[in-house]
Amino acid sequence: MDILNLIEEAYKAKENSYAPYSGFHVGAALLGYDGRIYRGCNIENAAFSPTNCAERTAFFKAVSEGAKEFLAIAIVGDREEYLAPCGVCRQVMAEFCDAEKFQIILARNKKDYKIYTLAELLPELFGAASLK
Ligand code: THU
Repeated sequence: MDILNLIEEAYKAKENSYAPYSGFHVGAALLGYDGRIYRGCNIENAAFSPTNCAERTAFFKAVSEGAKEFLAIAIVGDREEYLAPCGVCRQVMAEFCDAEKFQIILARNKKDYKIYTLAELLPELFGAASLK
């Protein structure tokens, strides 16, 4: 996996961020098992609650195009700090990813990043197995 390229893709995704209300621009790049990269940005709304995070945009684009298995996601914002995914996005990741293996790459610039597994960011998750 080319981590730096995935981060670069996340920054490209951020260029399309639609965030007129918060001014908080986010980009994500989701890597499928087939090697395809799906970009996502946050998309805000005047009614606020329809707002979609960058991570979920990437997931929903990918799933709508037939991808269902993923290796990693890179997430970038435009602050100095690392930007971690919100709880709702973590739950969406849990639906489609192996929590022990899926890698969440938080980048604060094009070369500084840290990596967590989904299991680290969403321990004791509620998922499909919980319903069996
Ligand atoms: N946002 C994301 O896109 N991803 C995150 O992980 C956290 C928050 C967006 C949603 C909203 O447009 C803005 O950032 C402020 O919350």
